[in-house]
Amino acid sequence: MAKELSEIFKGFSKLTREERLDALMEAGVLQPSDAEYLSKGGMRDTTLGEKFIENVVGWFQIPMGIATNFKIDGKDYAIPMAVEETSIVAAASKTAKWVREAGEITTEVVGEDIIGQIQCAKVQDFLKFEKDLLSQKNYLIEIANKEVAFGLVRRGGGVRDITVRRVPRGDGSDMAVIHILMNPCDAMGANIINQVCEFLKEPIESFTGEKVTMCILSNLVDTKVTRAKVTLQNIDPEMGFKIQEASLFAWCDPYRAATNNKGVLNGVDPILIATGNDWRAVEAGIHAYVARDGQYRSVTRWTYDETRRVLTGIFEAPLIVGTVGGVTALHPTAQLALKMLGVQSAAELSRIIAAVGLVQNLVALKALTTVGIIEGHMKLHIKNLTLGAGATEKEVPYVVKKLEEILAIRKRISLSNAIDVLKELRAGDGNAPVSSSAKH
Ligand code: MEV
Repeated sequence: MAKELSEIFKGFSKLTREERLDALMEAGVLQPSDAEYLSKGGMRDTTLGEKFIENVVGWFQIPMGIATNFKIDGKDYAIPMAVEETSIVAAASKTAKWVREAGEITTEVVGEDIIGQIQCAKVQDFLKFEKDLLSQKNYLIEIANKEVAFGLVRRGGGVRDITVRRVPRGDGSDMAVIHILMNPCDAMGANIINQVCEFLKEPIESFTGEKVTMCILSNLVDTKVTRAKVTLQNIDPEMGFKIQEASLFAWCDPYRAATNNKGVLNGVDPILIATGNDWRAVEAGIHAYVARDGQYRSVTRWTYDETRRVLTGIFEAPLIVGTVGGVTALHPTAQLALKMLGVQSAAELSRIIAAVGLVQNLVALKALTTVGIIEGHMKLHIKNLTLGAGATEKEVPYVVKKLEEILAIRKRISLSNAIDVLKELRAGDGNAPVSSSAKH
């Protein structure tokens, strides 16, 4: 019988990499061949790069870790995160533990359709254009589904609707922007929606007598929005109000909103990368969505109810991902990441990502309004500084210990501290044995 995830995640961070892989096998998340693949660095075919991009010369490695303790909509997940920044995986896992003990995470995806845009840069008479186009709407939907999106139609998706927007050019005339609304099922849908738009160019020109100037999807998918909600019970008013205040700061001030949202993306991007999804598209969509009332705002909001002692956080934005097609289908590690997550649909993946982004935001706001960001971040960053200063494996424990002492006293630490400590050590001032490489 496979072990529960909650069982294997107890003390997971203290295990060696091999033991973690064993634990994931015990939970049935990985097969022995998967564990072997990951233990060798997740590289099977070095020519795979040529299938993705051009002028390939090598691979860029980013570590992949597992965020533990997440229970989302009552289901436990092992969440793969590919990211280079220290403390993200640890902080998400630690905070997910707090949330599962003190509250819950619920999520939903509202809407199904993505948006393709067809632009006519300068129309003579917008109202006539709109009338001509909409009179052919059903026909256009029908031919797009029959000729291009037939695969999606078979899976219950396809083109659903067509709308037209009047966009003033600022020179007294209008551009007409047609929106093609399409349900991409479990694909991200970028290629297919672009194909649909280009296919419709000719019939639209012939029905309206206007020139189509360009066709491309929109990343501002306000027709399909993912929501995550974290509810924490029995929260001390001091902490609750501090987090509410920090959230208000990010809602009201775009300078703070940018940093707040970067912290949310700390949780979002690593899962997108691990699962082979287009993180630039998701980021663009989130940034555009949060600026839709004319001011750039936070993608999360936290409120504290003092009477009930309940802290509630909400994430809401388009988070369009795929679980089939594209890189997700071709990249073996992305395939494995999806398998580890055990997701049944693109919507489920999107919901998980929103939940992790929201929890990551909670971590940051809690730290920023209490001990500050340096303590936790730098504690974990010390190893990077140590390696960055050029410490050998033998020298690392000594340098780490010294840097921890400096951090405890001075509350800050930098690469130059690490270099100084290493110099001292190599000059023979430290207690640790001087490594052979330091003698040269
Ligand atoms: C650092 O990677 C992310 C934070 O700056 C996010 C935030 O300020 O909310 C800590």
